[in-house]
Amino acid sequence: MQRVVILGGTGFVGRALCEQLVARHGAGGPRLVVPSRRRERGKHLFVLPSVDVIQASVQDDAALARLLQGADAVVNLIAILHGTPDEFERAHVNLPQRLAQACAKAGVQRLIHVSALGVPDDPAQAPSHYLRSKAQGEQALRTAQAAGLQLTVLRPSVIFGAHDRFLNLFARLQSVAPVVPLAAADARFQPVWVEDVAAALIRCLEDPGTIGQTYELFGPEILTLADLVRLAGRASGRARPVIPVPPVVGRLQAAVLRLLPGEPPLTADNLRSMEVPNVATGRLPGLAQLGVQAASVLSVAPRYLGPAGAGVAEQLNAWRASAGR
Ligand SMILES: NC(=O)c1ccc[n+]([C@@H]2O[C@H](COP(=O)([O-])OP(=O)(O)OC[C@H]3O[C@@H](n4cnc5c(N)ncnc54)[C@H](OP(=O)(O)O)[C@@H]3O)[C@@H](O)[C@H]2O)c1
Repeated sequence: MQRVVILGGTGFVGRALCEQLVARHGAGGPRLVVPSRRRERGKHLFVLPSVDVIQASVQDDAALARLLQGADAVVNLIAILHGTPDEFERAHVNLPQRLAQACAKAGVQRLIHVSALGVPDDPAQAPSHYLRSKAQGEQALRTAQAAGLQLTVLRPSVIFGAHDRFLNLFARLQSVAPVVPLAAADARFQPVWVEDVAAALIRCLEDPGTIGQTYELFGPEILTLADLVRLAGRASGRARPVIPVPPVVGRLQAAVLRLLPGEPPLTADNLRSMEVPNVATGRLPGLAQLGVQAASVLSVAPRYLGPAGAGVAEQLNAWRASAGR
């Protein structure tokens, strides 16, 4: 492949994907085109030799068409975790629809789309805006697949890694709060390492045998949300008691958190998503079929959350941000 467009490539998974592709191929690999609404967001990619971070809005049809010119494949990583129903619809349904149309027009056949574990085949079964809109996005792409799009869908469980906003958030929370009142404490997850997700994406890009498939990406352990909060506390050396709270308190917490500035750590919609177990159904192929041996969150997370780890990277990022870099 000469040119791969990575939508949402400035984010957590996109970073790992670009780094792994560059490490694998050096400067001689495919040109990786990463559009961003704010190019600065992709500054961690600027040093990578074959990556072009481009200021562009994929919500604009003309800009999307320009991006796709001459592309051999597209990876779609664009998603939001919080938003209004309209925002979910735009990011998870309209964009995949428009992307499929733009691919058809530009003659780009290959699309790898990242969805999420817990997304039902039937959108009507989804308890949250997040899961419903993700399911509708998948549906739109499957319609395009019937018309010739070479589609692969990946459905990861919650993803961990040095730059995650999940375990790092729990670790940070325990550095300031004396206890952690936790809604949905029993919600189940099967966390998957970001480097394994990136390896799976690369396998999909390189192996035509993955066309037409849907893969579930998950790690070796099933853990509850409370287990994960405790793991983050232990690994960062700041373990605090975790106190499960009933759903009504969780909804109240979410309502209060919405009033704070910035991205809320938890919303009512997130709580509804957690009603669906975020674990493999066993009905679809997984990492093993992609030739990737899943790493364990129990062994990897302490390496970056611990004092010698990149809780350090997080700290550096915080310092860089406060220094305006
Ligand atoms: N992280 C997880 O635990 C997890 C779990 C399950 C599934 N997934 C899925 O994995 C994929 C990648 O996740 P991630 O964690 O890497 O996400 P991320 O870090 O939030 O990155 C997503 C990227 O999408 C772009 N974006 C967001 N909203 C957009 C919008 N409205 N219009 C255009 N661009 C927009 C942003 O790029 P710019 O701001 O630069 O434009 C951002 O860098 C997503 O499909 C997500 O649902 C993630």
